[in-house]
Amino acid sequence: MTPQEGQHPETLYERAEHAARFIHARAGEEVRAALVLGSGLGAFADELEDARAIPYSEIPGFARPTVEGHAGRLVVGRVGGATVAAMQGRFHFYEGYTLEEVTFPIRTLGLLGAKSLVLTNAAGGLNNSYEQGALILISDHLNLMGTNPLLGRNDARFGPRFPDMTEVYDREYQEAAIAEARAMGLELKRGIYAALSGPSYETPAEIRMLRLLGADAVGMSTVPEAIVARQMGLRVLGLSCITNMAAGVLDKPINHEEVIETGERVRETFAELLRRVIPKLQ
Ligand code: HPA
Repeated sequence: MTPQEGQHPETLYERAEHAARFIHARAGEEVRAALVLGSGLGAFADELEDARAIPYSEIPGFARPTVEGHAGRLVVGRVGGATVAAMQGRFHFYEGYTLEEVTFPIRTLGLLGAKSLVLTNAAGGLNNSYEQGALILISDHLNLMGTNPLLGRNDARFGPRFPDMTEVYDREYQEAAIAEARAMGLELKRGIYAALSGPSYETPAEIRMLRLLGADAVGMSTVPEAIVARQMGLRVLGLSCITNMAAGVLDKPINHEEVIETGERVRETFAELLRRVIPKLQ
C-alpha cells in the first residue's frame, strides 16, 4: 500500500505506521531484523546483498538532520538469507533530538515487522579487562540519560505502560553471539553499558562513579532504542566496540577522531560477526 498524499497522521502510532508503509512500499519485502550501526561502524550496510537505500530525509516522520547532525540512510538488504533493515547512522539525544525522535525509527521498524533488533555503538571502556578495539556484548544497561523514551502518554498498541526490563538483552541472542564469536576465534566478553546524554566525554571522577555503579562501558546511545524495542516486544542484541578506554583509565585525552578510527580498524571483524550472527536471530 502506498501512503496517501497529503495525509497527516495524528498520533505517534499512526505516524510510525505511515513511515513503515512508506518503507515497505520502497523496499518491497518483509523485514525480519533491524540493525542500528553506530559511529564508525556504518560500512556493514554497504555489503548487504540486493540493497535498497532510502535516505532518512525521504522517510515521512523521520527527524530532519540538525546542523551538525550527519544525515543517514536506511538500507534494506539480505545477509545470509535474512532480510534486514540497517540504519546507517542514528539520531542522538545530544544532537538536540527528543527521545521520541531518537526512537521513532525503532517504532517504525517494529511496525514494519522486525522481530529482532541489533544495536551497535562505539563506547568507552571502564572494565580493565577490555582493550581498545574489543567487541563487547551488552548484557544489561544503566539508563543515566536523565530521561526515558516512554515518558508521556502511552499508546497501548505499542505495548504496556510499565514494560518489564528484566531481560532487555536477549539471553539466547547473547549465547548465539558468543558461539559465533568463538567460531571466529574471538572472545566476546559481556558488559554493562551505561548511557549518558553526552556530548562531552566523562570526567575521570564520573568514570570512577560509573565503576561504582557497575558499568563496564559508557556511551551516548542505544539505551533509548533498547527500551522502546522491548516495550514493543522485539528481541534485542547489543554490541559495543570499545573505541577508547574511558576518561582517566589511561593517562591521555579522548577524541572523536580516535573513536571513529578504532571503529574503522575493527570493521572487518565486526562485519564478520554480524554476518554470522544475524541469520541466527529467530
Ligand atoms: N564516553 C562516552 N561515549 C563514548 C566514548 C566515551 O569514552 N567513546 C565512544 N563513545
